[in-house]
Amino acid sequence: MAHNGNQVAMTRGVSPAMARCELTHLGRQTLDVDRAERQHAAYEVCLVSLGCRLERLPADPDLPDCVFIEDTAVVVAEVAVITRPGAPSRQRETDAVADALAQFRTLLRIEAPGTLDGGDVLRVGRVLYVGASGRTNAAGIAQLTGRLQPFGYTVVSVAMSGCLHLKTAVTAVTDGTLLVNRSWVDPAAFAGFQLVDVDPAEPWGANVLRVGDALVYPTAFPRTRARLEALGLDVRLVEVDELAKAEGAVTCCSLVLTA
Ligand code: GLY
Repeated sequence: MAHNGNQVAMTRGVSPAMARCELTHLGRQTLDVDRAERQHAAYEVCLVSLGCRLERLPADPDLPDCVFIEDTAVVVAEVAVITRPGAPSRQRETDAVADALAQFRTLLRIEAPGTLDGGDVLRVGRVLYVGASGRTNAAGIAQLTGRLQPFGYTVVSVAMSGCLHLKTAVTAVTDGTLLVNRSWVDPAAFAGFQLVDVDPAEPWGANVLRVGDALVYPTAFPRTRARLEALGLDVRLVEVDELAKAEGAVTCCSLVLTA
């Protein structure tokens, strides 16, 4: 497949220590790291099939959650904001990602006492909705506002509860349509959008990765997938259930940016 302009998907390998990952809303299950690696590799193949050039960073054996690279940076057209992840065990993940992103963007940073996970940041156009989660604090949201307002972005703090990140609860499937689990976020924050609800039997199904007009989506949520396909959306399936045991989803495993 030809590359899609200058679209880059930055990923990071699965840590051999992934079984020691952070867990907040899930119980610890036996995690097969080899299977997680195979699923991650297939996810990367899917991104390449959508025209992305892969920029893959090596895993770090001391950073169990390093595959979830999305949490380490918020990348917009003008700059990249290197985050300060809310879980102390994850804060060193940013070093390698900052080094890699420096070839593409000027870097800005979230600094203590701010914390912010990229999984809490849902960007739609020039608005960034940021979940006030257990990982992202008010200082982090204020700093993100200060970093991005000069470039014409608006940052909106969104109350949420019951799940790890804002993007566990809501993601965009088009510029005007959001896929949402209303149990975890009040959709009043998203006035003006068309809302598609996850199927009630699939509460974890609200996380979808947009790449161009395509949607990368887990095989695990067939009922919600049918709702997306009924809208005429181009859904590309990936099996990520082993990665999901580590409380990660499809957006978490990449930073997609225009080089
Ligand atoms: N295991 C993913 C996270 O808790 O950040």
